[in-house]
Amino acid sequence: MITVVGSINMDLVVQTDRFPKQGETTLGTLYTTVPGGKGANQAVAAARLGNEVQMIGAVGQDAFGTELVAGLESEGIQVESIKRIDGASGIANILLSEGDNRIIVVPGANHSVTAEEIVAFTEQLAASDLVIMQLETPIPVIQQTLKICHQHGVPSILNPAPASGFTADFLPYCTYLTPNETEAEEIFGDNWEKALEEYPNRLVVTLGQKGAQFYDGQKHVLVKGFSTKAVDTTGAGDTFNGALGAALVEGQGFEEAVRFANAAASLSVEKFGAQGGMPNRAAVEARMTGERS
Ligand code: RIB
Ligand code: NA
Repeated sequence: MITVVGSINMDLVVQTDRFPKQGETTLGTLYTTVPGGKGANQAVAAARLGNEVQMIGAVGQDAFGTELVAGLESEGIQVESIKRIDGASGIANILLSEGDNRIIVVPGANHSVTAEEIVAFTEQLAASDLVIMQLETPIPVIQQTLKICHQHGVPSILNPAPASGFTADFLPYCTYLTPNETEAEEIFGDNWEKALEEYPNRLVVTLGQKGAQFYDGQKHVLVKGFSTKAVDTTGAGDTFNGALGAALVEGQGFEEAVRFANAAASLSVEKFGAQGGMPNRAAVEARMTGERS
């Protein structure tokens, strides 16, 4: 069982030919709502790859909350530990334009989860094969989860996104840390490549299309990304994390697991929406063998 402690958002996506300037009004070309949130995305990525997944988090008593929980359930994810509060669900305001995205997240219900509530989930966490977290839930919740995992010898992945909430005291507690390049710079400074050497086979920096980099104890390893035509890169990092978790749980070596995660992420960007395009196992395997032959 993979447990994801994290955020659940409705993504309000607006597509436009160019980003408006300050004070300017422009006409967009598309508005749509799709389920997102880094936590939920990572849960869906792992579930599509065939894992048993449970989600710990919170949504509001609003229409989005109902839709978000139903969406997770339809992916086969256990939703009993998702709290519903009297308030708004988390949302992400996503602008897609010029081949890029700009995102504002309003945490809403996600920020209602408390460290005390996490303590109440100790048994569930302790019985997990792996626990995945991000930083869209309150920091005390992450600290508490990491501590419980550490105490019970349960491996954990902390995806430090967004990096602003990261503190160095997390480091000894998490098994795996998966920043992207910007987050790695924020956490370790310009010299993040050097930091890789301190956390062999534990710290992996994702580099978008280029792939992902880590240190294996002897040498730096760049696991090349799979070339693809990106339609929407929202959630690519989440797909990487969910897939990395899936691969590690089944005992793949670190490099092989990163390669698997790269393949999954490359497929996810080919379709619109954070969760649209997240592949099943057959698709990931096809991509991996395709690249090898
Ligand atoms: O990582 C992508 C996700 O970040 C989006 O789905 C959005 O909800 C934000 O949380
Ligand atoms: Na996608």
